[in-house]
Amino acid sequence: MMWLFASLVNAQQTVNYDESKVSAYLLPELLKCKNGVMVTTAEQWEKQRKPELMKLFASQIYGRTPAENIDVTYEVLTEDTEALGGKATGKQVRFTFSNGTKKTEAILLLYIPNKPKSKVPVFIGYNFKGNHSTITDSTIFYSPALHLLKEPDHPDWKRGNQSSRWSYEKIIDRGYAVATMCYHDIYPDNPELKDHSVISLFRGYDSGKTTPGEWQSIGAWAWGSSRIVDFLETQQQIDTDKIALMGHSRLGKAALWAAAQDQRFHIVISNNSGCGGAALFRRKFGETTEIINNAFPHWFCENFRQYNNKEELLPVDQHQLLALIAPRKVYVASAQEDLWADPEGEFLSAYHAGPAYRLYGLEAIDTDKMPEQHKPIMGDIGYHLRGGKHDVTDYDWEQFLDFADKHFK
Ligand code: GCU
Repeated sequence: MMWLFASLVNAQQTVNYDESKVSAYLLPELLKCKNGVMVTTAEQWEKQRKPELMKLFASQIYGRTPAENIDVTYEVLTEDTEALGGKATGKQVRFTFSNGTKKTEAILLLYIPNKPKSKVPVFIGYNFKGNHSTITDSTIFYSPALHLLKEPDHPDWKRGNQSSRWSYEKIIDRGYAVATMCYHDIYPDNPELKDHSVISLFRGYDSGKTTPGEWQSIGAWAWGSSRIVDFLETQQQIDTDKIALMGHSRLGKAALWAAAQDQRFHIVISNNSGCGGAALFRRKFGETTEIINNAFPHWFCENFRQYNNKEELLPVDQHQLLALIAPRKVYVASAQEDLWADPEGEFLSAYHAGPAYRLYGLEAIDTDKMPEQHKPIMGDIGYHLRGGKHDVTDYDWEQFLDFADKHFK
C-alpha cells in the first residue's frame, strides 16, 4: 500500500531530459581525504581514501553489508553434458541459505564450454524473470522465488522470453562459462516481500523496523553475487582469477556495489545502470534520488532519502564508486535512447573515476567528450554508447567479450 502511494507521488515529479538545463555542479574530490590530504600513490589510496569512501557508500547509499556469515549449501540438481547443442555442460544448482531456523532458496544456472578442457573465465549475471526466461530449454527450472510475485503470469515471463539478453552461445563460443540466477531469489523485488529475502536470515532482523544505515535489496543482491563466486570456487573448470560480473539496470547498480566490496570480481560491467549505478547524481538528468527513493523504497538504505532533491549534499558521487573498483577493470555501457539512465552521466562518471586508475599506472578515459555511438573505449576503464533503448543486446555482449578478452587472455 505504502509502495503504491510512493509510486503515485513519483508520477507527479518532473524529469529533466534537457542537457542545457543541467546546472553546474561540483563533484566531491576523488583523491582528497577527509583530513584534506591529497592522495598521490596507490598505497595511500588503498590505506586511507578507499576505506573512507567505502564507509560513506555503505552508510549513506547502499547500507552496510553484515560481516556475519550465514550457512549456504549447494545441491547440483541437474547436469547436462550436451547443453547448447553439445557446446556446453549445463548445471542447475540449488543454493540453500539458512540461519538454522529459517531458510530461503535460489537456483543457479551455469554453462561451461565443453571445449577447451582447461579452466575457463566466467561471466556472472543475475536475470530479471527467472532462469527459465533466459533460454527456451524446457529442462530449466522456474526460479524458486517466482511464486511469491504476481507478475509471472504475464507473457513477458514466459520460457525463453528474455533469451535475447543472454547470448549464451556467443559467450560459450568465445571460451567463457556463464552463470545466472534470478535476483528475486535473493530479495524478491517488492518492499512487501522483505521477509522472503536473505536479509531476513541475518541476526537482528526485524521486519517492521529498518535502521537508517541498514542494507536493503541492492545490498542483498550484491551479497548474493559474492555467494555465486563462493560456489564457482568449488568448480574445477572455472578460472577464479578471471571472473567478470555483469549487471543490467538495477542489477548494474548492484554489480558495481558488489565489486566495490568483493575483490574476487576482476571485471565489472554495468549496463544501463543509471541512477544509483554509474550515473552521476549531481547532474539530476533523468531519474533522480527523490524519484528512485519514492518508487523503490526498498533498494537503498534509509539514510539515502535525506538526499532527495539535495544531491549536492551527498558526500560522494558515483565516479567514486567506479574508482573503488580500481585496479580491477570496470566497463560502463549506455544506450542512446535510455535517457532515464542518463547516458552522459554514466560516461562522465567513468571519465571522472580516471585519477584512481592512473594511481596504478592504468589506462583511464582521457577525454570528457562522450564517444560516438558504437565506438567503444577499451582501456582499463571501458565504455560504449549503443544505439537504441534500455536493454542488453548482442552488440553489448560482443563488447563485453572483447573487453574480457583484452584483460583475461
Ligand atoms: C526503473 C528504475 C531504474 C532501474 C530500472 C531497471 O526504471 O527507475 O532505476 O535501473 O527500473 O532496473 O530496469
